[in-house]
Amino acid sequence: MNLIHVESTDSTNLEAERILLSNKADTPFVVLTDEQLNGRGQGNHKWLSEKGLNITCSFVVSPLIDSVHQFYLTAMASVSILETVSSFLPDSSTVKIKWTNDVYVGNNKIAGILISNKILNNKIISSIIGIGLNVNQTIFPEDVPNPTSLQLETNQEMNVKSVFSTLCNRFEANYAIMLRNPKKMAEEYRANLFMLNKPYKYTINGKEEIRAIRDVNDFGEMIW
Ligand code: BTN
Repeated sequence: MNLIHVESTDSTNLEAERILLSNKADTPFVVLTDEQLNGRGQGNHKWLSEKGLNITCSFVVSPLIDSVHQFYLTAMASVSILETVSSFLPDSSTVKIKWTNDVYVGNNKIAGILISNKILNNKIISSIIGIGLNVNQTIFPEDVPNPTSLQLETNQEMNVKSVFSTLCNRFEANYAIMLRNPKKMAEEYRANLFMLNKPYKYTINGKEEIRAIRDVNDFGEMIW
């Protein structure tokens, strides 16, 4: 996949959007940065990541799938991160996907995803899939609720490049699977859900609610 590396930017999702608009790169491509000055999280939160220590990147694809199927992209990206994180930890059974699209190790969040899709005639013509994955950061701001990183989980400094290369490989492989057989990614997602059948707090339409998740349907909706 075409890699565009920028030393510093406001947000790789915004950088990716600018590149898309200027037609400077063909999809698929991935924008990677060492430093985000205005990293964005879900629901107007910020995404804070110390320079050079973690992965902050955005994959840009043109899947041309029906817009009602956008959950398949969420599932594909979540599973790609889950597989990447699992491959660097001694015990992969602790790595799970927290609905809708966070990756957890035990009770702590190691990665988040922010997706923005462009839709034309009910098809997703482009999707910017922003991924923040904590690799070597060990100290986080106090207001970040329950963060962890690969280094915190292994007590070892990781090679950020090699983690990123694994992520790109998993993403490319899973994206190809998703285009052929989208339900497969949704199945993988479901098979790795965090706190299945156990009460836990989720943010639903901006409100925190306690729910025991039983399943997730192919539209990404929680069944409880
Ligand atoms: C979340 O869990 O709140 C989503 C976090 C997404 C963060 C990534 S970092 C790369 C990309 N650029 C951004 O500004 N956000 C996403």
